[in-house]
Amino acid sequence: ATRTVVTLDGPAGAGKSTTAREVARRLGYRYLDSGALYRALTFALLEEGVDEAVWGDLDREALDALGVTVAPVEGTLELGHRGRVLGDELRTPQVTARVSAVARLPAVRRWLLRHQQALGRHGRLVTDGRDMGTVVFPEAGTKVFLQADLDERARRRLLDQGVRAPGARERQQAAEKLAARDHADMSRETSPLRPADDAVVLDTTALDFEEQVEAVVALARRVD
Ligand code: C5P
Repeated sequence: ATRTVVTLDGPAGAGKSTTAREVARRLGYRYLDSGALYRALTFALLEEGVDEAVWGDLDREALDALGVTVAPVEGTLELGHRGRVLGDELRTPQVTARVSAVARLPAVRRWLLRHQQALGRHGRLVTDGRDMGTVVFPEAGTKVFLQADLDERARRRLLDQGVRAPGARERQQAAEKLAARDHADMSRETSPLRPADDAVVLDTTALDFEEQVEAVVALARRVD
């Protein structure tokens, strides 16, 4: 069944989630934003005031006790914290700045693995993240590694935030934040960001949204 899983991995700001969401819609597959899971745990750690000095000691029981809920709802996972459904809370600068420090913890990755694999058990899933093709769904039939130049990723990230004509300094700062997160994600020991050996590397620097969606859909249709 995991032959019909489509994974999109790659650095921050490469357009993975917007692309993955649209690819899922066109194929009629479910969609899993795996980054949101790491963000939900980060949100809870900050919200509960857990001192960053002890994040490395968190075990399964401690993670269970954080009050994060992961529930399959309408073909995707709905994330909550103590009864509150998490949406915009997951994308604040505070969460974004700390999420890589949480995602490097082996206990966190183990804790989230079963939720991710459960959603892909019956196939027909499009998912994006950093290790979806390498670790979570090594048997996926379609694996894409989305790449784009750092400058272009910074430009798109700012555009997402509503900044249409950023100054050089703003662009520089956005690029530095993306680069720092990529470095953390690529250099960690557990499930580092890298293309799976059997992934198709797709550079989207010069592609528009439609081209990038079509490229992934075409790859997925070769399998289905
Ligand atoms: O994709 P997004 O920017 O929401 O991911 C947030 C962070 O979560 C990444 O920078 C990375 O540290 C972590 N992540 C991960 N493995 C995934 C998805 C996200 O480590 N599969």
